[in-house]
Amino acid sequence: IPVNPFDLVVFGGTGDLARRKILPGLFRRFCAGQMPQDAQVIGAARSEMDAEGYRQMVRDAIHEFDGRRPEECPELEGFLSRLSYVQVDAQGEGGWQELKELLRKDTVKAFYFSVAPSLFGDIAERLKNNGLAKRDARIVVEKPFGRDLASAQALNKSLAAYFHEDQIYRIDHYLGKETVQNLMAVRFGNMLFEPLWNSQYIDHIQITVAETVSVGGRGGYYDKSGAMRDMVQNHLMQLLCLIAMEPPSKFEPGAVRDEKLKVIRALEPVEPHHIVRGQYDAQGDEGSYRDHAENPRSRTESFVALKCHISNWRWAGTPIYLRTGKRLRARTSEIAVVFKETPHSIFDDDAGRHRNILTIRLQPNEGMELGVTIKEPGPGGMRLVDVPLDMSFSDALGPDAEEVPDAYERLIMDVIRGNQTLFMRGDEVEAAWAWTDPIIEGWEARNDVPKLYDPMSSGPEDSLMLMHRDGRKWREIRP
Ligand code: BG6
Repeated sequence: IPVNPFDLVVFGGTGDLARRKILPGLFRRFCAGQMPQDAQVIGAARSEMDAEGYRQMVRDAIHEFDGRRPEECPELEGFLSRLSYVQVDAQGEGGWQELKELLRKDTVKAFYFSVAPSLFGDIAERLKNNGLAKRDARIVVEKPFGRDLASAQALNKSLAAYFHEDQIYRIDHYLGKETVQNLMAVRFGNMLFEPLWNSQYIDHIQITVAETVSVGGRGGYYDKSGAMRDMVQNHLMQLLCLIAMEPPSKFEPGAVRDEKLKVIRALEPVEPHHIVRGQYDAQGDEGSYRDHAENPRSRTESFVALKCHISNWRWAGTPIYLRTGKRLRARTSEIAVVFKETPHSIFDDDAGRHRNILTIRLQPNEGMELGVTIKEPGPGGMRLVDVPLDMSFSDALGPDAEEVPDAYERLIMDVIRGNQTLFMRGDEVEAAWAWTDPIIEGWEARNDVPKLYDPMSSGPEDSLMLMHRDGRKWREIRP
């Protein structure tokens, strides 16, 4: 379904995110017929460039990041004709009048701040001063949304001075992933799971977001951030919220975000011995984390594993284990809900030690697997064996499943539609920092040194111990 005609201004329109994700994403929506023919996308940045130069830059970016050859993109020139460019000084007055003139009447206005957070306030202020912060305008901001509670509060305040909360779209691209939304469909669209979805039946939950990439060229940013700020405070936290929240009364922004917030607020502080930090070492010609960070003594973590508890009726007594890291054995993100053993076994076999595990694979090979216990075939008596009921979404849903928009495409279209359900509210972000801050402060106070781990492994040995100590086991990280 096409969205309403819009004018989308991308501040930082020549930057990495714009070239890699935002513009190729818009192009794919254009090809899918979802972007109205008269939509307008305006790149706004510091560089001196005319509209033709900008179109060429976007043409190159689409070829580089969309992966399609020019002859496979008959729609490309049509898309490029919707683009213009204005040179704008985020901290000065240059270009704002010109930008204002480019915006049309009666269109949805969205301003994407694809710039460093230190510029958010400056841009918001100039939008206001130039009469562009109208009540129905929307702004989109990206992570990192602060580096602790105080800076997140300051950012929220600087935006709130010019825009209402219902105009602010804070992107966590994990919420735009198809399977992440499927978490809600699976939980609240089936009768099967919800009655069992609590500490009475669930032993523990594991959330793993493993990456094979190193920090590579992002060492400068990453070294000041680390896995806790880069991944846990936002992406893993969002997954945790969706898997643990109470059923919202409706799939709408206020209801969903209220329930997520309650989960974050119910998180207990994490005990220092329930966290393992790691940093990848060198392998062959591939440098170590410290080589990439260009700080031979860096103590920033590229891996975190932790155990947390949600203090409420539903989850008391069911730990949730989170794990994420770079340079691991495989790129795989999944949530495993591990059910308790049956209370009594009627079989002579080793029954009682069988557990149902519901695994939701977020990427790659999106799908779900339910481990069930059945009789081992053959005449050998009643021997039990665990087998997977495995479903890959693309097999089950056919070609439609392969054409799903990627996270950015979906989220940008939601901005134009004015639907905030899949965006973080200011109080959620702050609550997530309030939980994260003491963990990071503890490391800093103790001068904590991360454990080194081998690239292509599952992380430091201690992270395996975190589970073993509790008589549990991480699921294998495998391609
Ligand atoms: C980003 C982080 O937000 O998410 C990166 O800054 C990380 O460090 C990336 O690699 C992972 O996203 P995805 O979609 O590839 O799982």
